[in-house]
Amino acid sequence: MKGLLLAGGHGTRLRPLTYTGNKHMLPIANKPMILYGLEYLKNAGIKEVGIILGPIKEGVVETLGDGSSFGLKITYIDQPDPKGLAHAVQISEDFIKEEPFVMYLGDNLLRQGVVDFVKRFEINKLNCVVGVCPVSEPSHFGIAELDDKGRIMKLVEKPKEPKSNLALIGVYVFDSTIFDAARKIKPSWRNELEITDAIQMLVYEGKKVEVEHVSSWWKDTGKPEDLLEANQLILGDMQTSIQGSLSNETKLTGSLQIGAGSETIGEVNIRGPATIGSNCIIGPDVYIGPYTAIGDNCKIKNAEIENSIVMKECNIESGQRITDSLIGNYSVVSNGYGRLPRGYKLILGERSFAQL
Ligand code: G1P
Repeated sequence: MKGLLLAGGHGTRLRPLTYTGNKHMLPIANKPMILYGLEYLKNAGIKEVGIILGPIKEGVVETLGDGSSFGLKITYIDQPDPKGLAHAVQISEDFIKEEPFVMYLGDNLLRQGVVDFVKRFEINKLNCVVGVCPVSEPSHFGIAELDDKGRIMKLVEKPKEPKSNLALIGVYVFDSTIFDAARKIKPSWRNELEITDAIQMLVYEGKKVEVEHVSSWWKDTGKPEDLLEANQLILGDMQTSIQGSLSNETKLTGSLQIGAGSETIGEVNIRGPATIGSNCIIGPDVYIGPYTAIGDNCKIKNAEIENSIVMKECNIESGQRITDSLIGNYSVVSNGYGRLPRGYKLILGERSFAQL
């Protein structure tokens, strides 16, 4: 079995963070999002993974290379003009060949990984397995309508009037019948070749398609608040690991990971779960609240931060509490105390957001 990890698209809803790099490289609990998907594939016994890259590639190839440092063989597949998930499948046929494969949308996180999906596919000798999970806004997803025995009746992409609240979660197992099905469908109203339509074609042609219900949490990270929520979910499972050093005046409750070469200085209050990367200097007078991730090489003093993702090499001396925030690499947040004229001084890139 092979893996197909989708990391294309423009990540428009995460701008400005996605102007300078691929969305799938944004860190969740200090780890690029794409690594979660890769690990899930690897844990399911997959050794060869194709990664679909769109127009924004920055960071992916540099970090993953040929995959050997992750124990995988990675092949990059170029999709310069993203025309939908079924189009991504079409252009991967040369890589996949006749083998079955797990297709994994790289902006999805799910706690259980993909092993259960692969098992169902193999044990029941299926043509396709789709993961499903109940959602509160079904019109934002591909939706599965099931009969009373749990068999698929219909799959619809982003229905205006959904007849079910079961979303397709972005994890699919296919055999090579999907290539024929993907060739038969037409572009949707949003001008994309929808994978949902290709799977519907499999159902229509009497192929064996089953759903696998998600047993724990699943998160699709399209918007900034989704990144924070994914960060919470991952940090919620984290065990304490202290590699850096904590000052005598550091008060710690809850779990904390702090990387090598990092230190806290003077009075620091950390309420986990929180993660701090390596070579950070935290303190004095710092409060780090629950669900905060701080990247490598950050300096934070006289500041409070809670439920936020601070990426690498940031310098923060805000004086006041920062909450529910995403702070990109190399950012500076200072209180400007004593510098006249007083006022908020902002250098914000296109599509930045500041709430003062
Ligand atoms: C895609 C799929 C949709 C699925 C969703 C899961 O949507 O088309 O069926 O429910 O991923 O994340 P998109 O992210 O393209 O809007």
